[in-house]
Amino acid sequence: MNHDKTQEIPTRLRLQVRQIRFEGVGINSYELVDPAGLPLPAFEAGAHIDVHLAQGLVRQYSLSNDPAERHRYVIAVLNDANGRGGSRTLHEQLHVQDFVEVSSPRNNFHLSEHAAKVILIAGGIGVTPLKSMAHHLERTGKPYELYYCAKDRDYAAFSGEFELFSSKDSHRFHFDGGNPAEGLNISELLREPEDGQHVYYCGPAGFMKACAAASTHWPAGTVHAEHFKVAADATGGTDLSAAGEVGGFTIKVTSSGALVEVGAQQSIVDALSAIGVVIETSCQSGLCGSCKTHYLSGDVDHRDCILSDDEHKEYLTACVSRARSGVLVLDL
Ligand code: FES
Repeated sequence: MNHDKTQEIPTRLRLQVRQIRFEGVGINSYELVDPAGLPLPAFEAGAHIDVHLAQGLVRQYSLSNDPAERHRYVIAVLNDANGRGGSRTLHEQLHVQDFVEVSSPRNNFHLSEHAAKVILIAGGIGVTPLKSMAHHLERTGKPYELYYCAKDRDYAAFSGEFELFSSKDSHRFHFDGGNPAEGLNISELLREPEDGQHVYYCGPAGFMKACAAASTHWPAGTVHAEHFKVAADATGGTDLSAAGEVGGFTIKVTSSGALVEVGAQQSIVDALSAIGVVIETSCQSGLCGSCKTHYLSGDVDHRDCILSDDEHKEYLTACVSRARSGVLVLDL
C-alpha cells in the first residue's frame, strides 16, 4: 500500500540473459533482452530494476547502459562475499540463455534538468548508475566530469567501454591500490561548488560518508546520492537487532483504528502483514522507496537512505523505520 499515488507500481518482465561479461575482478555484467526481441520499457539515467532470484530473493541493480537503448538492460554485479547472498546467487546460478524475472525500471536517482554542469563520482561498483548518466550527458552535450575510484584498473568495471566515449577526456580514473589514504581527495574536489553545478555519487559506505561530508556546504538540491548498501555504521538499515536498543513500539492504522504492536526484532511491514495489511516491498533495506508510507503523527526514527529530509516529515519506509517513542499513526 502506498500513499504516494504518483509512484508507479512496476510491472514484471520475463527477460533472457543474452550475454554475461567479465568486467573486472569479481564483477560480471548481465545483458538482459526480451526473448522475442521486443523493445523494453524505456528507462531514465540512474534507474534500477528489481531482479527476482530463486528462493524469493529480490535485489535492485542499477542499469548501466545508455538510456536511449530499448533493446537491452545491462546490469553489473559485484560478487560480494559479505553480502546477503543475492550477488552470489546471480554469479553462480544465472547463465546465458536463462530466463529471469525483473521489474520495469524505476528511478530514485534522477539527473536534474536544471544542472548547468554535472560531477559524477563513482566508488567501485557504484559506477553503474553513473555510467548510464554519462551516456545520457554525452549524448545531450551537457558538460560533465566523471571521477571513478577503484583499487586498480583490474577492479574498474567498464573501463574499456569508457575509453570509447568521445568525452573521455572528462573522465578521471583514480586508483588507490587498496590504501584509503591514497584515495581521491573528495574534499578538495567538492570544495567550491560552481553556479548550476550538481554532484552525483554512488559507492561503498566509507566513500558515501566522505562524499556527504565534503558536500555539506553545497546548495540545497544540488547533491544527489544513491546508496546500494546500507552503511555498516548507519543508525539502522537491515539490521533490526539495533532496534533492541529502543525495543518495540505501537502503530495505529487510521482506517480501522487497529493498534498493532511491532516487536523489537520485527519490521512495521511484518507487523502489519500479521493483521492482513500488505505493504509493497522490494529491497527491505530502506534503499528503494517501495514501502514509502504516509504517517500522520509520531516520533519516527527514519533508517532509510532514500527519502529526503522533506519527505521524512510526511513519510516513512515501513521496512526499516522505527518509533523513538509513543505511537506511530499511519495513514493506511
Ligand atoms: S522495501 Fe525498499 S525501502 Fe522499504
